[in-house]
Amino acid sequence: MNREAPIGLFDSGVGGISVLGRLINLLPRENYIYYADTARFPYGDKSCAEVKAGVLKAAAAMAERGVKMLVVACNTATAAAIEDLRAKYDFPVLGIEPALKPAVETAAGKSVAIIATSLTLKEEKFRRLFEAYREKGEIINLKAPGLADLVESGHYRDEMARAYLSELFAGVKADTVVLGCTHYLFLWELIREFFPGAEIIDGGEGLARNVCRTLEEQGLLKDGGEGSITVLSSDEALFLPRFDGFFQDILSILALVSHKMT
Ligand code: DGL
Repeated sequence: MNREAPIGLFDSGVGGISVLGRLINLLPRENYIYYADTARFPYGDKSCAEVKAGVLKAAAAMAERGVKMLVVACNTATAAAIEDLRAKYDFPVLGIEPALKPAVETAAGKSVAIIATSLTLKEEKFRRLFEAYREKGEIINLKAPGLADLVESGHYRDEMARAYLSELFAGVKADTVVLGCTHYLFLWELIREFFPGAEIIDGGEGLARNVCRTLEEQGLLKDGGEGSITVLSSDEALFLPRFDGFFQDILSILALVSHKMT
């Protein structure tokens, strides 16, 4: 496998940019291909079979471009298709799931709220995770149909998003909040308003560290030089012009998140 080859990142839309932002911070010299399956967005309200078909198509497009690793930067796509991708490709395929384990450990018996798409919460992968931790504290599952759509259409710092969240969180008390969909990191500042003292955890940081570790272990880290980002989409006319704005926004949000964590 070629160390200079790009890393492929995949999401149904803009959500995976929250993982890309972290990767750029950790591994700025790598070449990235970001693929958004915008033509089939949103995944969260679709059937597992429909999501799988979209993911396999996007993965094939990235494999054709010779990626050295595939990062499924979408909880819903991971739940629906990670096993199929691993069976199909020789390069490492890494995915993301709601960060329930660290959340339950951080909460130490206090309450944890998980926000995710309907499909993620319904899938076997999450059911198993939930069963493993349900005894360790109060876990509140909040499915959020339409929330990723708000983010995708740029509503993550405005009254529309605030109104949605205020309905979703009505009566919910949580010491730790898990963002179980990569789109939701864009809502970090608003979610913080609803849970001022709580820990807000998402799986993006863990996934980015896993990417680093795996590339290192397999001798696949690129040797210096400039990094690059190539953006692909199943609806390029819609997605490409919007990418930069989302990327800049996520970098400013990540600066707040990291500041809070240090
Ligand atoms: N970003 C995706 C996730 O992490 C979901 C968005 C969608 O519904 O397509 O689950």
